[in-house]
Amino acid sequence: DTRDPTSLRTPIVAVLGHVDHGKTSLLDKIRGSAVIEGEAGAITQHIGATAVPLDIISSIAGDLVDPDDFDLPGLLFIDTPGHHSFTTLRSRGGALADIAILVVDVNDGFQPQTLEALDILKRSQTPFIVAANKIDTVPGWNANEDSPINDTYESQSDRVRSRLDESLYEIIGNLSDEEFSADLYWRVQNFQRNVGVVPVSAMTGEGVPDLLTVMMGLSQRYMKEEMEIDVAGPGVGTVLEVKEEKGFGKTIDIVLYDGTIKADDTIVVGGQNDPIVTEVRALLQPRPLAEIRTESRFEKVDEVSAASGIKIAAPELGDAMAGAPVRVVRDRPLEDVIQEVRAEL
Ligand code: GTP
Ligand code: MG
Repeated sequence: DTRDPTSLRTPIVAVLGHVDHGKTSLLDKIRGSAVIEGEAGAITQHIGATAVPLDIISSIAGDLVDPDDFDLPGLLFIDTPGHHSFTTLRSRGGALADIAILVVDVNDGFQPQTLEALDILKRSQTPFIVAANKIDTVPGWNANEDSPINDTYESQSDRVRSRLDESLYEIIGNLSDEEFSADLYWRVQNFQRNVGVVPVSAMTGEGVPDLLTVMMGLSQRYMKEEMEIDVAGPGVGTVLEVKEEKGFGKTIDIVLYDGTIKADDTIVVGGQNDPIVTEVRALLQPRPLAEIRTESRFEKVDEVSAASGIKIAAPELGDAMAGAPVRVVRDRPLEDVIQEVRAEL
């Protein structure tokens, strides 16, 4: 293998927001657009995450993204639940992310979990943009499927435009109340200092080209160095969920953000009490929808590299915790790795 061991990994994008504001629909829309482009196979479904490669992003974004301007491989989206009881998952997803999309329903505006998500982003200092979703529900809206925001905005009546503007400025005002200086994304010069607001519809796809363009631009411009990893190195990740899985017992769903994990690795996982030292029994990926048969929803893989979402089956995972660190031992002293995991708990 002559590959350069150091390469750029996929930035991890958390999708956060209040319940029903359209997080999952937005990801469905992106997946659906790839299907329409005849590229369904190019998008891979991970455990808890969706990987969208750069060429798909550029085909959805049209003229807005020239793949030659980028050397990051794409984006890995993590969906999170908006329901109030899932604070831990939101918080993990948010802390794990390199960048985030905060989804806000333009009609419903700021709600409790919107504020909670903002707080998570503030504490973890994660750069983010706001997707002002459901613009198609503005009364009188004239939908232009999958169109960039500027084009569809131009085709609305004055009345519709001013209604949308009003909702958008309310969101900008709410952000400012939370001490984030924000503006419509096309007016933002420095995305590290100001939060860009992107009007979108997960239903009609309007504004989705803009959203993907801004996310790609943001990662390329501000995250490139952080994305340089030793892909062959021992894997490092975070547990998103601990789940009982038929035929596998207790499993952990993790997001791997550095290095590689192999099907015969020894790993250390943060537990309720002490760190758990265990051996991977299987690395599991969801099967493509078309292939799901009754036997198993999963497919065993030999190894995975960051960034990806993967399910790990291993003995002794009963005490594993959502949010805990996971580290591959490989050829390092076990005690050192246990110390690293303990330090992160
Ligand atoms: P939780 O995961 O429960 O937090 O919700 P969510 O944020 O993932 O919302 P979801 O995508 O499930 O959407 C909630 C409802 O809003 C669904 O009925 C969607 O069809 C609808 N919806 C989402 N986006 C849009 C949009 O842009 N326009 C319209 N008209 N409806 C939308
Ligand atoms: Mg959802």
